[in-house]
Order: sequence, then C-alpha cells, then structure tokens
Amino acid sequence: MPRKIAVFGAGYIGLVTGACFADLGHQVVVRDIVPEKVAALNAGEVPIYEPGLSEVIARNAERLRFTLDADEAAAGAEAVFVCVDTPPTASGDADLSRVWAVVEALKNAVHLKALVVKSTVPTGTGVKIRAYLDEAGLGHVGYASNPEFTAEGRAVEDFLRPDRIVIGAFDDASAALVAEIHEGIDGPVLRMDVPSAETVKLTANALLATKISFANEVANLCEATGADVERVMAAVGADHRLGAHFLKAGLGWGGSCFPKDSVALKQLAANSGYPFQLLNAVIEVNDLQRRRAVNRLKEELGGLSGKTVALLGLTFKARTDDMREAPSTVIAARLLAEGATVRCWDPMARLPRQEPWMLTTRHDTPLDAVTGAEAAMIVTEWPELREVPWEKARATMTGSVLLDGRNVLDPEAMAAAGFTYLSVGRATTRP
Ligand code: UDX
Repeated sequence: MPRKIAVFGAGYIGLVTGACFADLGHQVVVRDIVPEKVAALNAGEVPIYEPGLSEVIARNAERLRFTLDADEAAAGAEAVFVCVDTPPTASGDADLSRVWAVVEALKNAVHLKALVVKSTVPTGTGVKIRAYLDEAGLGHVGYASNPEFTAEGRAVEDFLRPDRIVIGAFDDASAALVAEIHEGIDGPVLRMDVPSAETVKLTANALLATKISFANEVANLCEATGADVERVMAAVGADHRLGAHFLKAGLGWGGSCFPKDSVALKQLAANSGYPFQLLNAVIEVNDLQRRRAVNRLKEELGGLSGKTVALLGLTFKARTDDMREAPSTVIAARLLAEGATVRCWDPMARLPRQEPWMLTTRHDTPLDAVTGAEAAMIVTEWPELREVPWEKARATMTGSVLLDGRNVLDPEAMAAAGFTYLSVGRATTRP
C-alpha cells in the first residue's frame, strides 16, 4: 500500500532513499536545509553524481517533492526517515545535532506512525530518542533503526537489491510498517532490537575496513619478501569462508563512511570502557598507508623538495565525485609539506574549497597533468588510466618514476614504457 513518507536530508543516502521509495509507489517529500539544493532538485537537477539516480528521480517526479519546510514535510507523513549526516565531533564521537533537530521538528506530526533512523548513530541513540518522544507527548510515534548499507557509485542498485534489510524496533507495529514500506525490494528482512540494529552498521563497516587494512599490511609484507599481493589475495579470497571482496591492497580506505564510522565505533568502545584494540590498529594501518606511499616516492626520487609530482585521480574511489576523506588530500598535503609542487587530474572530483591547490593545478587529461613532472602517482583507480599512452606520457615527463597506488597497470608493460614503476605489494620494475 502506498504510504506518505518524509525523508530528512537530501544527501547521498536521503536522495537514494527518497527516490527509491517513490519508485516503489510511495508519496515522498524530501526535506533539506540548503535552499540551493532544494531549488535545484525541484528544477529537476540532481546535485550529486550517482549512477541511475537522475533517472529514478525523473521517472517518479509526480511522487517526489523537495522542500525546505520541516513542519510541512513531517505534518503529512506516516513515516519519517532520518538520513542526515552525523559527522565526527572534535572527540571523534558522532555529532548527532542534525538527528536531534529532526526529532525536535516532529511536534506537529499528527499522522506520524514511525520515526525511522537511517543515519549512522552510536548504539544507545534510539533508546534516548524513544525516551524523548515519550516525554514530548509523542508516545504514539514508533521508533525504528533501519541502517543503510549502500556504497557510493552503486547506491541505487544496492538499495533496490540489498543483501539484507535490517530493522530494529521497540514495537512490532513500527517494524511491520518499515518492512511494508520496503515491499517490492528483493532482500531478506532481519528484525532485531534497536541497539543491535544500530551496532550492525558500525560493525559491518569496521569489518570491511579491517579486511582492507589487512590486505594493505600483507602488501607491505610482500614488498619486503618478494611475494605478489595480487596473487596472494586472489588465492586467499578464493576460500569461501573469507570471500574475495575488500581484499584489494592500495592506498587505504576513504569516503564518507569508513573513516567516520571506524572512529565512531572506536570512541563508542572507549566510552563504554572497552578499548577496541584491533580496530585501533586497523585505523592506524590506514593512516600509515598513505604516508608510506609518499615516503616511497621520496626515497626513489632522493628527496621531494623542488620536485613536481602529478597525482592521477583525486576522489576516494573511482566512479564518484566525492572527495570526502580521500587519500589524495593527505598525500598532497604531505608532498606540499616536503616542498614538492603538485599537479593533478581527476575526471569527476567535486573539489573541496579547503584544498585550493587542486583548483589551480588541475589538468584536463592525465597526459597534461604529468607533463614536466618528475614523478606521477595513481591515487584513484579510474579506468581511464588504463588507456593513457604511457610511453608518450613518459616522454613528456622530466623524470621516470610512476607509483601506482591502486595496482591499475602492468609492471612489465610500464618498465617497457620507460618507467621505474612502483606499485603496492608487488616488485618494482625498472626500464
Ligand atoms: C562503504 C560501504 O561499502 C557501504 O556499505 C556503507 O554504507 C558506506 O561505506 P563507500 O564508502 O561508498 O561504501 O565505498 P566502498 O566502495 O565500500 O569503498 C570504501 C573505501 O575502501 C574506498 O576508499 C575504496 O577505495 C577502499 N577499498 C575498497 C580498498 O582499498 N580495497 C578494497 O578491496 C575495497
């Protein structure tokens, strides 16, 4: 049965959630606090790049509205989905002020049956919100935790074909309503208590991050022992108990979820009196992985001061425009601190204002970016990098060092193209 749904937050999660619920036949109002974003969405423009999202929004235009008005969004809704961001505070704990702002905007939500939190929140948040609702005379409003597991670049696909739909609720009616809203989506519903549902998201991301940090440590060991991490992890991942996913060594994880959620779980554990030692190491390995790449370049070039380095790819992964917690920002900062000049290329990055160097040194093609550089570093695994005429690129450079931070290219082919080719967890090849 079509329901009236309000989605608070028109970011990656909120837009995908709103659009996909509309696609299932529901009447959806998406509310955001940024006027330009709401105006753009109402004019049919989608402010972020996410494959398939524009199409889903366009084909559901009559069931999907965007507004700035919280009262208006909440007033008619049977379910409110909270999809606002929960960035880290100075202490690393999640900043829940935007979540609470939504809760406080529900006073006039007379038709509301359930408040559903998709935002990633520390375990215990639902219990506090439940108590607040009861005290505010909103005891009739149910509460559910419904964490989101979509990855950027495949969010629509992940939403419509999830591995699981996790629903944590205090009462059966709210859980049943949330499950009903998802009808039409092909995926098993896992029903549980609210604290467990809150913990699933943090734990799933921490375990994925652990797999990547593990692969990166194995890669670093391979560099010291002469093994090839690509062959090692392909064979390790062939064990069905381990699985082949998230074992790709590189420059470490970034993005909007892993860095924030791993620190949030670390702080949640510390605040609860249990230091999560393994997770602490997982985070540290990730921090070191970027610095290690800069150090390897420094060693190969005999110092970085006065050298020009081209960064190829800036986003935290390919097929997104997202720069949040991208390894490129740390790598560039380290290079600049060492006295190097940085040039860059990225086909899609939405450049953050706080990184002015990217705006002034961004080039249209990888070839332009490497021209005149002593060294180049592949930071993001953009498929375009496989098509670069590398021999020609080498000829435009003043040096011959290429550090492939994502193992995109073939070591022998790069040596043949004239490069001293360093990659992650594989032997260095030379011209
Ligand atoms: C992730 C989770 O996958 C998703 O379930 C959650 O909801 C949000 O966080 P996302 O941040 O979009 O999604 O990116 P993902 O594709 O999972 O990659 C995360 C980071 O890990 C990227 O920086 C990527 O480059 C890196 N990564 C991933 C590796 O270095 N190696 C791998 O094997 C996989």
